[in-house]
Amino acid sequence: MRVSKEQLHKLIMDKLHKAGLTEEHASGVADVLVHADARGVHSHGAMRVEYYAERIAKGGINRNPDFKFEKTGPCTAVFHGDNGVGHVAAKQAMDEAIKMAKENGVAVVGVSRIGHSGALSYFVQQAANADLVGISVCQSDPMVVPFGGAEPYYGTNPIAFAAPGQDGKHITFDMATTVQAWGKILHARSKNEAIPDTWAVDSNGEPTTDPFKVNALLPIAGPKGYGLMMMVDVLSGILLGLPFGNKVSSMYHDLTEHRNLGQLHIVINPEYFTGLSSFKEAISQTMQDLNNIKPAPGYNQVYYPGQRSAEREEAYEKDGIEIVDHIYEYLTSDVVHNNSYDNKSPFAK
Ligand code: NAI
Repeated sequence: MRVSKEQLHKLIMDKLHKAGLTEEHASGVADVLVHADARGVHSHGAMRVEYYAERIAKGGINRNPDFKFEKTGPCTAVFHGDNGVGHVAAKQAMDEAIKMAKENGVAVVGVSRIGHSGALSYFVQQAANADLVGISVCQSDPMVVPFGGAEPYYGTNPIAFAAPGQDGKHITFDMATTVQAWGKILHARSKNEAIPDTWAVDSNGEPTTDPFKVNALLPIAGPKGYGLMMMVDVLSGILLGLPFGNKVSSMYHDLTEHRNLGQLHIVINPEYFTGLSSFKEAISQTMQDLNNIKPAPGYNQVYYPGQRSAEREEAYEKDGIEIVDHIYEYLTSDVVHNNSYDNKSPFAK
């Protein structure tokens, strides 16, 4: 099913408003989800609406949070999210970080006690659209074994980065620090298909190809990905005085509970370094250099990070966004949620 960006935005907004969010917050969440679907990151788009609707309806997301922006130094601040929707808190915190970096050259803004905030590319692109470099990291539920471990400790803790080039084009890099997302395991289960033995481990910590035996995911590149997810947890959890490691709340465990998650935005103003125009020129040169690299056998071309997503976004602008039929049916139905996510288990069934 193909829908326009505007139509998808309205469907998502209406559903979340019906679940209990204010129109303003429902619209803010829809902005981030439509951004993800438009870039082809469907794991963080409309697919999440029913889960959010259930959590909002059950009280696990504060419908009327008391957002507070607390400046703690010339370039530092904490945005208190009061367990409202993470998307809106993270977006407002980035707006504040942009103002601070314009004035002082750099800003480090923690976003404290929020719900899930979705695809981090949205927030770093806010910075790039303002001619700034954006970095954002956040905590997620513990479902990854530390290197050499048999039990989960960290989340899929993502890292996102965007830098502005010329003509409104950006380099946008945005990834989870795990080999694969949990959604890919669920997908393999639904199709009864084996998974590669590099994705996940069973309850003994042994690599498994059986998606039904998966007990935890594996970090990217062994100890290196494990180190990166540790770094994300320190910056977005410990630095903000929040629950960390395996004490981070689970997405599916109890949908009546607030999640108390943390996120950190770092914004850097190129004007305070090489200067904006030479920075943008060099970023565009980097993009071109990468595109001009000779492709390896089996590849058509080298893309710079975020290029394929930006191309998808352009194509979707013309042809509409591809949405899975059953998600479209849910969005256009009167149902708020089907009570299918609250399973008292750390993992979705
Ligand atoms: P992915 O594996 O689809 O992409 C990772 C990066 O690789 C992207 O920057 C992409 O542009 C780049 N890339 C992919 N193919 C490429 C190619 N052929 N050439 C050059 N670059 C290429 O992303 P992943 O790890 O599945 O993450 C998906 C989303 O999930 C992200 O938006 C992330 O922020 C979000 N996420 C959010 C969490 C949360 O708790 N809020 C937790 C984990 C992930």
